[in-house]
Amino acid sequence: MPQNVTQKIISGHLVSGTMSAGSEIELRIDQTLTQDATGTMACLQFEALGVDRVKTDLSVSYVDHNTLQMGFRNPDDHRYLRTVAEKYGIVFSPAGTGICHQLHLENFGKPGATLVGSDSHTPTAGGLGSLAMGAGGLSVALAMAGEPYSITMPEVVRVYLEGELTGWASAKDVILHLLGKLTVKGGVGKVFEYAGPGVASLSVPERAVITNMGAELGATTSIFPSDENTREFLIRMGRPQDWTKLVADEGAEYDEEIRITLNDLEPLAAKPHMPDQVVTVASLAGTKVNQVAIGSCTNSSYADLASVANLFAGKHVKFETDTLISPGSKQVLKMLTSEGLLENIIDSGARLLECSCGPCIGMGGSPVSEGVSVRTFNRNFEGRSGTKDAQVYLVSPLTAAMAALHGEFTDPATWGDAPQIPELPKTIPSIRDQFIFPPEDGSNVEVVRGPNIVPLEQFASVDADIEANVLIVAGDNITTDHIMPAGAVITALRSNVPAISEHVFERMDASFASRAKDTKNGIIVAGENYGQGSSREHAALAPRHLGVRAVVAKSFARIHRANLVNFGILPLMLVDKEAYAEFAQEQNVTLPAVTIAAGEPVELVLSSGKRVAVTNDLTQKELDIIRAGGLLNYVRFSKKC
Ligand code: F3S
Repeated sequence: MPQNVTQKIISGHLVSGTMSAGSEIELRIDQTLTQDATGTMACLQFEALGVDRVKTDLSVSYVDHNTLQMGFRNPDDHRYLRTVAEKYGIVFSPAGTGICHQLHLENFGKPGATLVGSDSHTPTAGGLGSLAMGAGGLSVALAMAGEPYSITMPEVVRVYLEGELTGWASAKDVILHLLGKLTVKGGVGKVFEYAGPGVASLSVPERAVITNMGAELGATTSIFPSDENTREFLIRMGRPQDWTKLVADEGAEYDEEIRITLNDLEPLAAKPHMPDQVVTVASLAGTKVNQVAIGSCTNSSYADLASVANLFAGKHVKFETDTLISPGSKQVLKMLTSEGLLENIIDSGARLLECSCGPCIGMGGSPVSEGVSVRTFNRNFEGRSGTKDAQVYLVSPLTAAMAALHGEFTDPATWGDAPQIPELPKTIPSIRDQFIFPPEDGSNVEVVRGPNIVPLEQFASVDADIEANVLIVAGDNITTDHIMPAGAVITALRSNVPAISEHVFERMDASFASRAKDTKNGIIVAGENYGQGSSREHAALAPRHLGVRAVVAKSFARIHRANLVNFGILPLMLVDKEAYAEFAQEQNVTLPAVTIAAGEPVELVLSSGKRVAVTNDLTQKELDIIRAGGLLNYVRFSKKC
């Protein structure tokens, strides 16, 4: 049978299950990545499994989120991560080396490999043909321990690209176009596989922009074939041996097809506060811009920043528009230097930040009150920038640079001729020596823990139905930022669950944590797409620490649903979505934690006397995990590791 690219990689890594869409499959994982914000917990979980060495071909631990190191907590976490890496055979990327996905693309990603990462933008590596998926830290810890990774076999959507980008349109506009068309829920249960003659017109970094932000569609992942452009990229990165050709067979079948004519695209922007609120940049002309931030794992490649530097040549950004630039890696920074482009950026009045996530995760660079911030990032959720009432727009680097120069959005029709996308320099400086490669034998390495590293809590298994109380009735599209906010102070507590739990839902409901602790057994009720956004498992772990036992929602985002299961929280779906209106805060509900069956509807009895039918899409294994008190217990009990 002819196969598409996704099927080829899945069939080559299939441990169990059948490749029909919707069925549970287990995959052998070749590579893992973690970043510091989720990695400390993943490493604590890995240690708890009692394995003496990672079992993957490659595991990399990147420090890119909390690089400001305000107070002892972040540096302590980073030291812990470095010593864990040394002991267990993980490559370590210290703070300042770059953003995990940009670094992984440049240094480690491989066509045809499976990669799971404790970061939702792990699909970036799909730009060079990896099957790369974001997962909770616990799933990544298990993959590091050699356990297969479970997913629902996705539907494969062929995104057929024709023509080529023209004028000021860029790769970012391809994915913004798709987001506007399909919405943030449009990719759930799907892999977006790019094909067609337009693929050859896109470089690997451009492809990676598209696969990176495929995460905002809610997709399992996105992937491009591995072709001559991929080979050329890997040669330039000094890794020709990592290239393999990987294209769909003639006649391969797909579950769905979307066609995009690249020539038809124009500069687009996602308006506040969702990545799918997409409009043309022309329609925003005249909107004053207080801040421009260029970088993030979406748009911080050499081509992105060199384009910006070329536009800035001999010009100055508007003084009233604070302009920040974060290169994706030291390699990008070195290339900008060697090509003489760094000077354009410095002379333009823009601020050059460290090679890290920075403003994308609210680590500095917050906009002014009610400010308009134009960013090349992938998320514009309310409050994520660190300024609650800021209006964040997501755009391409070209659009961002023009906004910085004009101090406002202007019509691209007035911008003149569009510049050429810069090619990678002929000679590329290596940053290989910036990584810390682990010794062959790490058995004598001592793992150093500071006071911020608090041992993992072991949740009790479930052996009876649970009397619980509704803690909050939340709306649609609740993000993991709503549940477990980002930001310097909060993020520093990631390896200290009791402390970080005090902040759950604090931006929506300041007394949530104290009520939850008083109640002991709580329920969260929500609308559509609960838990969209980042892969942060603290959005499940911290509520579980506070006693949350179930989330009743109209629907769930994929990674968060998996995280709920991993920490023993029941994800229940309303059979009749209108029944959402029956719930009110402080109602008592009997949770059928033991009487529930996988995939079967059941009635919840509310203290109002009303009965509400809920169902679940849990497999028997997932139900067993929840009853065991979470995945770590389940694995320990079954002695699989
Ligand atoms: Fe970092 Fe923002 Fe990407 S936090 S990993 S740059 S989404």
